[in-house]
Amino acid sequence: MTNPILEQLTQHRSIREFEDRPLSPHQVTELVNAAQHASTSTFSQQYSIVSVTDPAKLHAIADVTGHRWMVNGGHYFVMVADQYRNLKIAKAHGIDPYMLHSTDKFLASVFDTAIATENIMVAAESMGLGGTIMGSVLNNPRKMIELLNLPEMTFPLLGIALGYPKDKPELKPRLPKASMHFENQYDLDANFDQELTDYDQLIREYYQSRSTNGRSETFSHHIVSELSGNRNLRSDLFAMIQAQGLMTH
Ligand SMILES: Cc1cc2nc3c(=O)[nH]c(=O)nc-3n(C[C@H](O)[C@H](O)[C@H](O)COP(=O)(O)O)c2cc1C
Repeated sequence: MTNPILEQLTQHRSIREFEDRPLSPHQVTELVNAAQHASTSTFSQQYSIVSVTDPAKLHAIADVTGHRWMVNGGHYFVMVADQYRNLKIAKAHGIDPYMLHSTDKFLASVFDTAIATENIMVAAESMGLGGTIMGSVLNNPRKMIELLNLPEMTFPLLGIALGYPKDKPELKPRLPKASMHFENQYDLDANFDQELTDYDQLIREYYQSRSTNGRSETFSHHIVSELSGNRNLRSDLFAMIQAQGLMTH
């Protein structure tokens, strides 16, 4: 069975090269609208979106993320976990905002932000656009907070670079379903060695054959190299999140 939505979802690939063509204000509004209609934990709408249009700020964010190509996109959003608005509501009603500072409420704001982010990506792809979600704004949250004038109880979680695709990268194969979709309980006894060996080979072929940045790397190599990086990278995140007043208990 297929339908246009399933078809589009399974054709997703991150786009990192764009035509020199900005999104229209109408398109940006449509994307924000799509984000707003996502599910939101306890209907608390715990995120905000900053459209970054100032070229100097875009360049500064490119420095943070290390992604020079993002300045050539058609639009850039920063997705911000946000309990500031609800803090103001609590204060206006004389309520003790203790709950807002909890791990539970921080997680809720992360869920809301992430789900809204994916809605933007899916909506953009439905409009013939493409883009890349960027966790690399977390390389320097202090700089992001300063650049965007983010208040207490907010945290910049993700960037989204969008635009008219200039390339169409090969689809990245995902894990074999047997290794990640279980029934009723996590299957600790199953032996997926063969599936994972086959998947490693599939990913090696994908990296070898792709048109840009080709290399010989399996999925296992990729995970090992992800975990062998600089231990100090982003090691200040926990402290930064708490300094913003979030996840203090
Ligand atoms: C939370 C999140 C953070 C990401 N951060 C980055 C990033 O900082 N830079 C980047 O180039 N891609 C980033 N990506 C894109 C992933 O690398 C990409 O989705 C993954 O490699 C799968 O490739 P595909 O999207 O082309 O299928 C991120 C994706 C997610 C979901």
